[in-house]
Amino acid sequence: INVDTLREKIKLPQTKRRLPQCLIIGVRKGGTRALLEFLNIHSMIQRSTDEIHFFDNERKYNMGLEWYRQQMPYSFADQITVEKSPAYFITEGAPERIRAMNESIRLLLIVREPVTRLISDYSQLAANKAKKDKFIRPFQDLVFREDGTVNTDYRAVRVSMYSLYIKMWLSVFQRDQILIINGDRMIRDPYPEIYKTEQFLGLEHRIGRENFFYNKTKGFYCVRNYTVDKCLNESKGRKHPPIDPEIISKLRQFYAPFNREFYNLVRQDFGWPE
Ligand code: A3P
Repeated sequence: INVDTLREKIKLPQTKRRLPQCLIIGVRKGGTRALLEFLNIHSMIQRSTDEIHFFDNERKYNMGLEWYRQQMPYSFADQITVEKSPAYFITEGAPERIRAMNESIRLLLIVREPVTRLISDYSQLAANKAKKDKFIRPFQDLVFREDGTVNTDYRAVRVSMYSLYIKMWLSVFQRDQILIINGDRMIRDPYPEIYKTEQFLGLEHRIGRENFFYNKTKGFYCVRNYTVDKCLNESKGRKHPPIDPEIISKLRQFYAPFNREFYNLVRQDFGWPE
């Protein structure tokens, strides 16, 4: 019996389904699943396992907040319900919709170095195609146009242009309502990132270093407490295809001004290589 999945199905006395007080809004391939699963070992957190895509999908949004609430796990009054759908970050109108639900919502955004994120996104798109016995075009053919410029029409390229999207969020929410987590650090050492998140959410520190253990076979940290003992599945932590260093450096140059604008907007310097 998996206690973790039971916890979502069983209704304990005095629990009910509640709208989220915290959302992981993105970014796609930033480490959103790791963040959600790691936070979930905190006894004051209840999370929706599934991505509900409520604020980025017209059909779902039109089903209304009561439908959304029904998708949430059971929780006690003092627990925090968290939902994550990484598409929220890039969806026009999502910030306004979220504010209409709860203007004091707390938002978590986990970002990675933009070129790494792009390659991770490409690896996922390639893996999804391979499942359907299809092949993806070579990385450089998708990422560059024929004239050699970076193809900003390619969604995976655009998603890494964080400054474009953060503007929408900052025009609707206070800066201090958004915690921006460093996804590259989260991979190397999750504990400090989770510690900051507990603090941001006003939670007592209950997730300790002892809850994380490095799994050599997986090459990533996994999480453990008295009810949970898990590594993320094989779709998280994929092997990336080798990319020509010249392509990497061209892409880094391309992202540099967007990165600097992002640091200025969020008043946080991630020091990504240029
Ligand atoms: P890669 O598969 O490219 O390595 P998301 O959950 O937002 O889709 O992000 C997936 C990324 O989370 C993975 O990208 C991986 O690098 C990162 N990640 C961070 N911590 C992880 C962990 N403990 N286990 C597996 N993947 C982790």
